[in-house]
Amino acid sequence: MSPRPMRNSNKRNDPVPAKGSPVVSEPIPLKEGEVVNSSSGPQLVRGMRDILPSEKRLWDRVWRASQLEFESREYDRIETPIMEEASLFQRSIGRVTDIIEKEMYVFEDPGGSRVALRPEATASIARAYIRHGMVSLPQPVRLWYWGPMFRHDRPQAGRYRQFFQSGAEVVGEQHPVVDAQVIMTAIAIVRRSGLDPLVSINSTGCKMCRPQYIEQLVAYYRTRRSQLCQDCKKRLVRNPLRLLDCKEEQCKSVKGEAPQIVDSLCPECKDHFVRVLEYCDELEIPYQLSSSLVRGLDYYTKTVFEVYERTEGAGRQDALGGGGRYDGLLELLGGRPTPGIGFSLGVDRIVNALKEKQTDVAPGAAIEGAPQIFFAQLGEQARRQAIVLVERIRQEGISVAEQFSKDGLKGQLERANRLGVRYTVILGQKEVLDGTVLVRDMEGGVQEIIDRQKLVEMLKKKLAT
Ligand code: HAM
Repeated sequence: MSPRPMRNSNKRNDPVPAKGSPVVSEPIPLKEGEVVNSSSGPQLVRGMRDILPSEKRLWDRVWRASQLEFESREYDRIETPIMEEASLFQRSIGRVTDIIEKEMYVFEDPGGSRVALRPEATASIARAYIRHGMVSLPQPVRLWYWGPMFRHDRPQAGRYRQFFQSGAEVVGEQHPVVDAQVIMTAIAIVRRSGLDPLVSINSTGCKMCRPQYIEQLVAYYRTRRSQLCQDCKKRLVRNPLRLLDCKEEQCKSVKGEAPQIVDSLCPECKDHFVRVLEYCDELEIPYQLSSSLVRGLDYYTKTVFEVYERTEGAGRQDALGGGGRYDGLLELLGGRPTPGIGFSLGVDRIVNALKEKQTDVAPGAAIEGAPQIFFAQLGEQARRQAIVLVERIRQEGISVAEQFSKDGLKGQLERANRLGVRYTVILGQKEVLDGTVLVRDMEGGVQEIIDRQKLVEMLKKKLAT
């Protein structure tokens, strides 16, 4: 964070210093998250940002939702390096894509190798699958990951140059039920994080049926060439499918009348898509068909999807996540022909959506990951006993917040209120003498006197209801 500006103490409501006494400067207390506009001192690299402790709880919530949903579905966690050979991404994502042409951080390392900061993790996981002979494991191999990705995007709300993804790849299975299960996993994480997801879904066909569709697409776009942006004029020649990704207003209307890929699917792709949708119906996945969804990466085959937050009336927001099938990717990277499907959720975007929602729904409400109780103490003797008691409570799996360095009860209760805990345990001088504590229900303000020996059991019961 930028250094705090200093301000002159006699500009505040402090007593005016006596004539001749030195004017003391002290830092203005900043609210967490507040940014000081200072041109001096170290600056953040453009597009990068700090994730401050005030936000961390929401991040932890998404982490927990991911861990829980992945682990309960038998995914194993994998961690791949943030740096790979640049050619890995060029071959996988496709040279004529925005990610490779405009956004990837590529540089020569001191040894002269061309390396890249990973713009995504699917290519790395495909590499790891091949390299570590995972083909000999029981298939499919289900892997999940969490970590920073890097894209030199134009910085704006929800678009960062370092952002985090929570994602999964299921490698070695082509059955359409897996597509629906993978989408369900993405939905479950978004829901458990506290949002209301909606899926856009399409099929991009396979190497048998896609060329024919691309011919139709090119023929159509040629007739509208004069209406296209400069990038799309290039895409028309170099990678026509990417025409459907263009976000420029002038190209959006052209896209609206373009031929639809679902009409050109071969019987196998059509059957696969229909079955995926049937399984999605069974799972009650909220989805809508999106005929122009092709996603911005070249490795996709058949099913592609994106996850959005369901909003009423508002304009289209950025996707919270996206994914799809990539049945040709492993072979392209030198492995055996192996099908795969996966998705990545943009954690930054989920956290942003949660922040917006929380201010609407319940300002300052307790959230998952927040402490369950607060422990307040009064006086030195109480402090000595409280530090031991709090450790005992924590050992029982109850999360406790405290301010043992403070003395006043009022300040401690204010903090407990701000944290949104349900109960505050109070240990004062009287309680020190008679072996009890007070347990205060923070909603109604009712206080009970509890025998200290029974405290943990009683808290467990109360918190379970
Ligand atoms: P993607 O659509 O490029 O797919 O990225 C997935 C998600 O990452 C996006 O929906 C978005 O939430 C987030 N994201 C992307 N760029 C940014 C950014 N600049 N700032 C903030 N968030 C961003 C992939 O990355 C594929 N690897 C997904 C996949 C996995 N397909 C198959 N398996």
